[in-house]
Amino acid sequence: MDSKPTRNLALELARVTEAAALAAGRHVGRGDKEAADKAAVDAMRLVMNTIQMDGVIVIGEGEKDEAPMLYNGEHLGTGEAPAVDIAVDPIDGTRATANGLSNGISTVALAPRGAMFNPGPFVYMHKIAVGPVARDAIDIQRSIGENLRRIAAAMDEDVQDLTVAVLDRERHKGLIQEIRQEGARIRLIPDGDVASAIMTALPGTGIDVLLGVGGTPEGVLAACALRAMGGNIQGKLFPRNETELRKGLEMGYDVDHVLTMDDLVSSEDVFFAATGVTSGDLLKGVDYFSAGAYTSSIVMRGLTGTVRRIESTHRLSKLARISSIPY
Ligand code: FBP
Repeated sequence: MDSKPTRNLALELARVTEAAALAAGRHVGRGDKEAADKAAVDAMRLVMNTIQMDGVIVIGEGEKDEAPMLYNGEHLGTGEAPAVDIAVDPIDGTRATANGLSNGISTVALAPRGAMFNPGPFVYMHKIAVGPVARDAIDIQRSIGENLRRIAAAMDEDVQDLTVAVLDRERHKGLIQEIRQEGARIRLIPDGDVASAIMTALPGTGIDVLLGVGGTPEGVLAACALRAMGGNIQGKLFPRNETELRKGLEMGYDVDHVLTMDDLVSSEDVFFAATGVTSGDLLKGVDYFSAGAYTSSIVMRGLTGTVRRIESTHRLSKLARISSIPY
């Protein structure tokens, strides 16, 4: 066994999400989701291509024809080893970013080639996510009440002590009612369930569980982060309509299958990074000052479980001299 410390790609990924957040930061509150996303995508690709890796996007912005930006199957990196799967969400919370609301983050994850779940045509999945202490308590097949009681017991708390993050969506009306009936508290989030999933595994965030239906890409990204932090997530695909279901079944997907952590990302050798675009409970957003900007990031590595917080000061006038990205 090689006892020398190996390369931590998460540190290199921090530069990727910082660049994307800095580029998107100029679009905060300007009402144009597409422009914000495009700025983040362009910056992300540029920096990602400098990383020594042979990367293929498994979780991107969609199929090539529909999304010419960071599409599934796109190759990134210098082309040298290691061969990795890539998951990107240049902005999780594009609407929040365009409207200047909280919780917009830029995020990316890497895992060895073949390790990440490919959600195919499925845009949404049911999710239940918790931190390390309750990692063995969740079972998406059981009722909400049972899960909350098991999570509370694992955490040596009562159900009424738990706070559950739920996306504020019409489809969650029943879920919200069930959680309330069980006596747990709820934090309704307008957008951004990757950040909430991460918060379940970090002490002092006030979030104990994430529940509900959210994006499948976000589910895989959250799985990578939770894998690194020792938390847990389970999911189940949630077809939006008959066409999506039929397409998925033709491709061999089983919508009744419980997606475990191992299904979502089968290797512990994962790397994850996120940088705040707008300020939220997990990360501060991009903040400009006369000569530059500050960013706030979190990076993690599965093999070691190390979680780092990186506060950076960027000198935009200097960057302007060497970078093609208009920061
Ligand atoms: P994007 O900004 O990438 O569109 O995602 C924001 C988000 O809130 C995710 O965090 C979440 O998983 C998903 O959208 C939920 O989808 P919807 O807004 O359609 O309910």
